[in-house]
Amino acid sequence: MSEATTETEARPARPRRGDELELRIDSLAQGGRGVARTEGGFVIFVAGGLPGDRLRARVGKSKRSWAEATTVELLEAAPERIPDICVHGDEPCPGAAWQGLPYEMQLAAKQEQVVEALERIGGFTGDEAVEVEPIVAAVEQWRYRNKLEYSFGADTALDAPALGFHARGRWDEVVDVDDCHLASAANNAARNAIREWAAVSGLPAYDRGGSGAGVLRNLIVREGRNTGQVQTRLVTSEAEIPEPPTDLHTVVGERSGGTDGPTGVIGEEFLRERLGDLDLRVSPFAFLQTNTETAERLYAAAREFAGLSSTERVFDLYCGIGTIGLTLAPDAGEVWGIESVADAIVDAEANAELNGITNARFAAGDARLGIRPLVEEAGKPDVVVIDPPRAGLSAKIVRRVLECDAKRIVYVSCNPTTMAPNARQIVDAGYRLTRVRPVDMFPQTPHIEAVALLERVGSR
Ligand SMILES: C[S@@+](CC[C@H](N)C(=O)[O-])C[C@H]1O[C@@H](n2cnc3c(N)ncnc32)[C@H](O)[C@@H]1O
Repeated sequence: MSEATTETEARPARPRRGDELELRIDSLAQGGRGVARTEGGFVIFVAGGLPGDRLRARVGKSKRSWAEATTVELLEAAPERIPDICVHGDEPCPGAAWQGLPYEMQLAAKQEQVVEALERIGGFTGDEAVEVEPIVAAVEQWRYRNKLEYSFGADTALDAPALGFHARGRWDEVVDVDDCHLASAANNAARNAIREWAAVSGLPAYDRGGSGAGVLRNLIVREGRNTGQVQTRLVTSEAEIPEPPTDLHTVVGERSGGTDGPTGVIGEEFLRERLGDLDLRVSPFAFLQTNTETAERLYAAAREFAGLSSTERVFDLYCGIGTIGLTLAPDAGEVWGIESVADAIVDAEANAELNGITNARFAAGDARLGIRPLVEEAGKPDVVVIDPPRAGLSAKIVRRVLECDAKRIVYVSCNPTTMAPNARQIVDAGYRLTRVRPVDMFPQTPHIEAVALLERVGSR
């Protein structure tokens, strides 16, 4: 028998799309799904599975060495599993996939995933290994989100539009939500009031099944957690409709699946929030950390890692409405921020003024294109703070950041699997990864936030 034949025979049988399998989950993968193995050893990532669960799952995508599956029935719950409290009808909340795990286990799993990403993806082992600091717990385990995005859908049983979340894995089906435990009572009340208005208005929900018919698409509810303001934004198709009882009304094009578009102001245009010592205004399309209370802990880590002594020039890349830069400004000589959303930059400037901060400047633009001109204008920074979206930094942006030749780089990340390879690129160019601290911004979900400190080896 040839070697090749032996290898083929040794490979575990690959399940096919649509197969239903009985599986036991033995760990959690990056991204939060449960990991199971078939009897033959084929790896399957199961949405809705937690370690210790025995369940029946339906296979979706099936690749050469792994497949994806969704839970059809929980046959035997893991001993640690706690009953789901955020459920909508028969559906577990799609926004709280880890709610079955006791909170201490969620924290331990996130800590472990940061360690694993740094070791396996970043190659930080041996001399380069970094002791990841204990994860900082969230201030609140439930009802912490300051922003929720709901979808309208047809609900034949109610004979009125449903307003809630997409059922897991079914983008064209919306499950009505009465009380989302990730949202505050005020947020839930605002959503329920708009659902009542929708029922009375007689306006149909937009058909996500492809016909393009219908009007009502989404409702975004944002909340100033420390100001008590609740701001609502209705998203509809282009249609003649009565003025909605929301603060904002966005109209999106026929085929758009998104929620951005021309927006009319009916009530309050800006969300007002207080975060740490800062009073903030936030434009409808500007980013704000979704967990206001725990963002203070995140920014405290960034401040500590930046190690400022009042003279430094700081770059705040991906600055949003300026929150990190403005938090650091009192300890810095000067702060310069770059952000691609122009409205967010207008907010950042307004926020500097609102808080009497005079040593911060902000510019709208792409981080990749904006760094060189910024160095020309401001000079090289002492400290660079980076807070990119989940995709992390492209190799080119890393090169631009390295050209800054900063003494310290503070990397705020919402995805350790992209932070780890970026940190590797930065370290290979002459830095040391000295500190990493995860912060749990998103309890009940697999999402992980972490702050890392990279220090330049040798002087400029
Ligand atoms: C994770 S948020 C961080 C915002 C801010 N640091 C904070 O804590 O609120 C990432 C920000 O990067 C911005 N962004 C995305 N792509 C960008 C790019 N190519 N150049 C500059 N900013 C970008 C987004 O609009 C968003 O405001």
